[in-house]
Amino acid sequence: MRDEPLVLGIETSCDETGIGIVRGHTLLADALASSVDQHARFGGVVPEVASRAHLEAMVPTMQRALDEAGVTLADIDAIAVTSGPGLAGALLVGVAAAKGYALAAEKPIYGVNHLAAHVAVDTLEHGPLPEPAIAMLVSGGHSSLLLVDDLTAGVTPLGATIDDAAGEAFDKVARLLGLGFPGGPIIDRTAVSGDSRKIAFPRGLTAPKDQAAHRFDFSFSGLKTAVARWVEARERAGEPVPVADVSASFQEAVCDVLTAKAIDACLTNGVKTLVIGGGVAANSRLRVLAEQRAAKHGILVRVPRPGLCTDNGAMVAALGSHLVAAGVAPSRLDLPADSAMSLTEVSVAG
Ligand code: KG4
Ligand code: ZN
Repeated sequence: MRDEPLVLGIETSCDETGIGIVRGHTLLADALASSVDQHARFGGVVPEVASRAHLEAMVPTMQRALDEAGVTLADIDAIAVTSGPGLAGALLVGVAAAKGYALAAEKPIYGVNHLAAHVAVDTLEHGPLPEPAIAMLVSGGHSSLLLVDDLTAGVTPLGATIDDAAGEAFDKVARLLGLGFPGGPIIDRTAVSGDSRKIAFPRGLTAPKDQAAHRFDFSFSGLKTAVARWVEARERAGEPVPVADVSASFQEAVCDVLTAKAIDACLTNGVKTLVIGGGVAANSRLRVLAEQRAAKHGILVRVPRPGLCTDNGAMVAALGSHLVAAGVAPSRLDLPADSAMSLTEVSVAG
């Protein structure tokens, strides 16, 4: 519909420069420039390298997005930008660019929460999100379970990782197996030819004693250490490391815990919709296991296609569009880049 708002979203919280354009729930453009190759030899994202790459990619990525959507900046109704959480220097590039474009084109600006945007992106594929819903966000920097009553007003955190994020665990295990960076997609592919029941790796925070204090929290650091110990023992014994079996067994341990806790959160809160977002939501085993377990309880699982699970500009535009439609006031032009932005803050108040 022509009268739905045309919203442009800018994402620079980590290593992807993303610019997306949506009209209502319809995706018109999703331009992306990634600096992932520049970080690969360090085994993780180097903040300064990411910031510089955002700076170089911003203007050409903006042009690509506008061309793809067949619109000009003058046509845009509002500009949304990731205000946080993320890498401070990287966020700063996106926020400064958004302010520049908003000022030049006289458009309202919305500083939005990156994690809420990972939830909102699903509406581009599956339509409005039934509320309440449970959202599980699993990325390189975060692993959280949230109760979403009203995405425009704020979400209620139910639990989060107490150490490593799920994606971080994939990246670290891939590194110790010598598989490269980022680890998630490589482990996903390597696991296909492995046996997931070969090694019984630990399931963090699932013991009865953890129920009281950590029912909806995650812990992946013990799992990562267990994989490291297992691999070291093999190497010490001069035996080859069965990389596919280790990958599959590790992946199974992560997906088992994530899906069990997500379903438990749905059942405990009487919620029938589970939306999964963040880079790890691209994991093929996670998607299958979540579907299987949810189906047993009549819970509907919504997961965006893999390209929309990892960081992108469309997710920021999707959340911006949601805020505009709900009549939420824009942020002020002096909005901050907030590397520790709280999950309860969906957009920077005007
Ligand atoms: O959401 P995202 O693109 O960036 C952050 O906000 O962190 O997530 C990146 C993370 C990385 O740790 C990457 O290894 C992981 O998502 N990832 C995956 C898969 N694709 C990306 N993890 C498991 N399986 C995948 N297929
Ligand atoms: Zn992300």
